[in-house]
Amino acid sequence: MKYGYFDDRNREYVITQPDTPLPWINYLGCEAYFGIISNTAGGYSFYRDARLRRLTRYRYNNVPMDSGGRYVYLRDDESKEFWSPSWQPTRNELKDYSCRHGMGYTTIGSSYSGIEASTRYFVPLGENLEIWQLTVTNRRATRAKVSAFGSIEFCLWDAQDDATNFQRNFNTGQVEVEPGVIYHKTEYRERRNHFAYFACSELDAGFDTQREAFLGAYRGWDKPAAVEAGQLTNSIAHGWSPIGAHQVKLDLAPGETRQIVFVLGYHENSVDQKFDPPGSQIINKTTVKPVIAKYLVAAQADAAFESLRQYWEKTLSVFQVNTPDVHTNRMVNIWNAYQCMATFNMSRSASFFESGIGRGLGFRDSNQDLLGFVHMVPARARERILDLASTQLRTGGAYHQYQPLTKRGNNDIGGGFNDDPHWLIVGVSAYIKETGDWSILDEPVPFDNEPGSEVPLYEHLRRSFRYTLDRLGPHGLPLIGRADWNDCLNLNCFSDTPGQSFQTTTNKEGKVAESVFIAGLFVFAGRELADIATRRGLAEESSSYLAEVAKMEKVTLEHGWDGEWFLRAYDDFGAKIGSKECEEGKIFIESNGFCVLAGIGLDDGKAASAMANTGKYLATQHGLVVQQPAYSQYYLNLGEISSYPPGYKENAGIFCHVNPWVMIGETRLGHGDLAHDYYSRINPSAREEIGDLHRCEPYVYAQMIAGKDAPTFGEAKNSWLTGTAAWNYYAIVQWILGVRTTLDGLEIAPVIPKSWPGFTATRTFRGVVYKIAIEREGEGNHIALTVDGAPIEGKVVTPPTDGRKEVSVKGILS
Ligand code: GLC
Ligand code: GLC
Repeated sequence: MKYGYFDDRNREYVITQPDTPLPWINYLGCEAYFGIISNTAGGYSFYRDARLRRLTRYRYNNVPMDSGGRYVYLRDDESKEFWSPSWQPTRNELKDYSCRHGMGYTTIGSSYSGIEASTRYFVPLGENLEIWQLTVTNRRATRAKVSAFGSIEFCLWDAQDDATNFQRNFNTGQVEVEPGVIYHKTEYRERRNHFAYFACSELDAGFDTQREAFLGAYRGWDKPAAVEAGQLTNSIAHGWSPIGAHQVKLDLAPGETRQIVFVLGYHENSVDQKFDPPGSQIINKTTVKPVIAKYLVAAQADAAFESLRQYWEKTLSVFQVNTPDVHTNRMVNIWNAYQCMATFNMSRSASFFESGIGRGLGFRDSNQDLLGFVHMVPARARERILDLASTQLRTGGAYHQYQPLTKRGNNDIGGGFNDDPHWLIVGVSAYIKETGDWSILDEPVPFDNEPGSEVPLYEHLRRSFRYTLDRLGPHGLPLIGRADWNDCLNLNCFSDTPGQSFQTTTNKEGKVAESVFIAGLFVFAGRELADIATRRGLAEESSSYLAEVAKMEKVTLEHGWDGEWFLRAYDDFGAKIGSKECEEGKIFIESNGFCVLAGIGLDDGKAASAMANTGKYLATQHGLVVQQPAYSQYYLNLGEISSYPPGYKENAGIFCHVNPWVMIGETRLGHGDLAHDYYSRINPSAREEIGDLHRCEPYVYAQMIAGKDAPTFGEAKNSWLTGTAAWNYYAIVQWILGVRTTLDGLEIAPVIPKSWPGFTATRTFRGVVYKIAIEREGEGNHIALTVDGAPIEGKVVTPPTDGRKEVSVKGILS
């Protein structure tokens, strides 16, 4: 069953039923101020860091689901009935409910007893605030007297502390109120120089800032006492739970429309200008007032919205494609690209499944995410790379995560995930391929953020590579450390204590357990590094990398090969994981996908065998599972992977992040049909019709789909913030459509389904627009290219040297 539809022309997903199986969310903001917003206006906002600078409160895993949000209420002041046009929190039966999730904005509307209302939420570019434009229309034949209320609940900044430290926090809340503006200034009196505000374009017919006054004791947001009574109480919060609520009274003639603008924002004052007058405890509002005044004007809000629209139009225009498959088109052109930007902004911090307090930016995660967003925001990708590299350690190892606000490595989780360093090579290489900006390699970058330790970025890449060579195991394969890509394959953590973190508990020496996956990654990243070295004129260094890569390939084919597929690992006893000899976990997706993606075994049939068996044992109609057979019990020597019930998460779930490795592997074998078939099985748009089973948003990827061993086979979880976004984008664009960035130019090497007559695409690459048209004349993957009418040798289109800004590329597949 479907809960809405795609409006591709407007780049929107339109939800037509409010009670979706789970909250279907969207993101507001693309720079420093962000929010998540659900289809019923649930969600919260923060400045830069979802944990440390949380503006509004949200109750994760609460009942009813999706509690806390940007809530608007309307009240018929004659009948005294009230409702929320976004359905939640009052959940009245609405007419014509719709939620349009678009690029950086969400519009939710409905009509109830002849009153039509719709709110458009967005964050203007360049500002630390969000705008809610509420439009109310009287569709009755008679006049309507209606009160409109806008409301939010403030969080006391540090979301973790806010949810736990009540002995203090019930005492610290403070606000200031001026006509139409509520200022939230908890802790401003001491060490904070920032505050939040919630403003309304109309003069208040009433406000509230103390939650209990607004809701009434023992009531929820579904039935605020003050809304029910029709009059806010002008309460001032002293401690407890500060909120912001405004009331506006409307008297609407039949057919009349009024717009009310609410602005919720974050503002910083310089430390020596915090108070006005100096010496008082009153917020200095000199710099914030003009900002608030500006956006409360509907015309200014409209103009800001138009700029946002253009920003997304431009951002997405970098790559646009037209294939015979609608699901491919809309994911590539709109939603998958958009999701990649969400992972750029959020990493794994804030979603319906990520609480914003758990994880900062992952070293592995954010480097991989680059594959999906570098073409849209190259300058910001550069900055991200330098931030990530600055957390690298002198050993070449890396902090697994860092906090976006402080940009410091996170000590709680530390390092020792032995795949981490290589992702930096992958990320930097993707950046240079996209931009041709070699200067990044000369940027001075510290280790562990220590001033004075700066070396050129290139040196960091060398150390990443070295890191593995310094940590080889008994078979010459890379030691796994705490885990490799699979955070849950914890071979050096024999944990029998409930609650212990599988990621940070290490009680084995770590000198035995090896990862075949890291071997594949080493080969992949090593080749990239060798290519980079060659072009830097370091021929000898480059050859030494290739020699190490060749050695690793050999070792992998010898000790990482199980006869028909690649092994996954060796455990702390030196026993095989992912082998036909195993009782459970005989074959794994990661090592097979990545080794083939890296090109290992392409010449001797091993890659083909690995892919065939991966398909045979792991593929299902809902995607490929991580391993088979699933672990039926907990194994001390394997760690978290076996902690999950069979079919869930890393224990044989369909981990969508790694499916693209197999898609790419299949393209390397020339199997376009199968590659695209795998792509389609997890493509959320192609799963829209099975919304009741899939349950997550049909417009973005979820990290997980329950595997065939799970009772809920086919059910998705953990949507939005996942490496799935970047990898699927990379697989479809660069390997299936085959429009691939290389250090020297744009390679065109499609491996598409046989039934496709071709496709067209537009790609802006290093300042030049490439108009690409591919036509199929035969069933194979051989391509003959002409560039502006002239045939070229090979598949790489080099950037024009004569200043042409548009190039036409024609490819004939045969
Ligand atoms: C999560 C983590 C990622 C890890 C994956 C597999 O997606 O963010 O770093 O690779 O799980 O465990
Ligand atoms: C859990 C998840 C895994 C994730 C990890 C991050 O173990 O199962 O997917 O990568 O947490 O810390």
